[in-house]
Amino acid sequence: MIRVLSLVVSAGLIAPTLLAQRMPTDTFYQQLFRPFFHYTPQSNWINDPNGLVYFDSEYHLFYQHNPQGTKWGHMSWGHAISRDLVHWQELPIAIPEAGPVMIFSGSCVIDKANSSGLGVDGRPPMVAIFTGHRADNQSQYLAYSNDKGRTWTRYGTQPILDLGKKDFRDPKIFWYEPAQHWVMVSVLSPERKALFYTSTNLKNWTRSGEFSIDIPAPKRPGIPPTARSGIWECPDLIELPVEGSMERKWVLLLSVGSGAVAGGSGMEYYVGQFDGRTFTRDVATAAARPVDWGKDYYAAVTFNNMPIRGNRGAISIGWMNNWQYATETPTRSFRGAMSLPRELRLSKSATGYELRQRPVQELKSLLGPAFQWAGFDQGALNQSLTDNGFSGDTYQLTLDLEATKAEAGVRLCRNTDQETVVGYDPVRQLLYVDRTRSGDVAFARDFPGRFAAPVKPQNGRVSLQIWVDRSSVEVFANDGQVTLTNQIFPSPDSRGIQFFGDGLRSASIRPIEPIWK
Ligand code: FRU
Repeated sequence: MIRVLSLVVSAGLIAPTLLAQRMPTDTFYQQLFRPFFHYTPQSNWINDPNGLVYFDSEYHLFYQHNPQGTKWGHMSWGHAISRDLVHWQELPIAIPEAGPVMIFSGSCVIDKANSSGLGVDGRPPMVAIFTGHRADNQSQYLAYSNDKGRTWTRYGTQPILDLGKKDFRDPKIFWYEPAQHWVMVSVLSPERKALFYTSTNLKNWTRSGEFSIDIPAPKRPGIPPTARSGIWECPDLIELPVEGSMERKWVLLLSVGSGAVAGGSGMEYYVGQFDGRTFTRDVATAAARPVDWGKDYYAAVTFNNMPIRGNRGAISIGWMNNWQYATETPTRSFRGAMSLPRELRLSKSATGYELRQRPVQELKSLLGPAFQWAGFDQGALNQSLTDNGFSGDTYQLTLDLEATKAEAGVRLCRNTDQETVVGYDPVRQLLYVDRTRSGDVAFARDFPGRFAAPVKPQNGRVSLQIWVDRSSVEVFANDGQVTLTNQIFPSPDSRGIQFFGDGLRSASIRPIEPIWK
């Protein structure tokens, strides 16, 4: 993998130096907790994905980045590109902080018709709109690139949208085809309000609507209610196909700063309609639903300008962390990782429209040959699979459980005193991930715990797809109906696997090699 270091900033123009350096990959991916197949920066801090956009055969992942350290600060847009959503190449900082103005979250579009007039030689510009953060003001700024995101020019020194507010941030922009205009959704965070704007040139924006809500969270047995306390951040508004029909519905994704379903920060969504100007939620599915039931899934947004895929779902990437302890996690030279890219669609059930999330198909290219187990008997259960020839910390595991009376599941990343448990409780119909003894849990009071999601068996079965990547466990249940994303920090020798419960019917494990080689 090639990593490119350093950058030069001059008079608003941001140009990379040509200093490129081949990563010492052998030591790099062996670092403690370094994910093998999730994006991490070579060094320093990252948080939200920003400006996800596809252009000219490249997927761009920009992100909140501190180029100077492993804690939050000096926020700038880091940058990585990929041709397959699987292998990433880190590029120089795209947009660095500018004096007292930090570069907060935002998004990118490809201005195909050159509505902004910022294109050159008939080539569409890549346009980024992001929040410029000062101690007393947050407003929206524009920058553009005429060379596929390699260098960026700030459009003037002034914001393009300033309400004189302290907390107005995270613009997501997209093209709304039916009305032939651009749309922006951003949030007044502490007011828990999403604001909608429209524009024909990306520079001048007119307010077209707003969305806010305050209804009590639904009560579900065994599940903490989604609290209504958290500030809103990183909105996204997307139109998704409803599986098995020609229908499409709009979904408003929001990140909430606290009080999420697993505690601390997390994501919620509403399903409804968008008329090109404002979003209205469906009355039938009025309540917010959690996007992910784990502790570490935040600020996910979707790609703009995606090539049409068969089902026209959207692709999202989230930040696998929680603001409760994000700055304390025990990694060394880097801190923060992105989730796997997920394909989003809706499914319709008796309780309304539900988000479905599946890892993108492209990830299949990573999977090694399967180790398979079927017809579990008591003898095979509760035996460490290291005895059965499998030991590892980077793999995809699929499990098929029968919802009998007793709990069933798997203990992952095990040594003699550590394990991360993924289990299903058929009586309470809860799927859980328990990381209480997962390794280093002592760095933050809010880190250890057991996080659960309601999962109904389908035809008496629950199927799990679990992606283990050294310091994270992403669980997709019943073909993406429910996801649970959690970080773990086990010792290097915690590589064992142990199945438990009578309900287990089949399991298969496919090892995964590092994407960094
Ligand atoms: C969300 C967030 C955004 C903000 C960014 C700053 O994690 O707080 O609201 O733009 O991080 O890094």
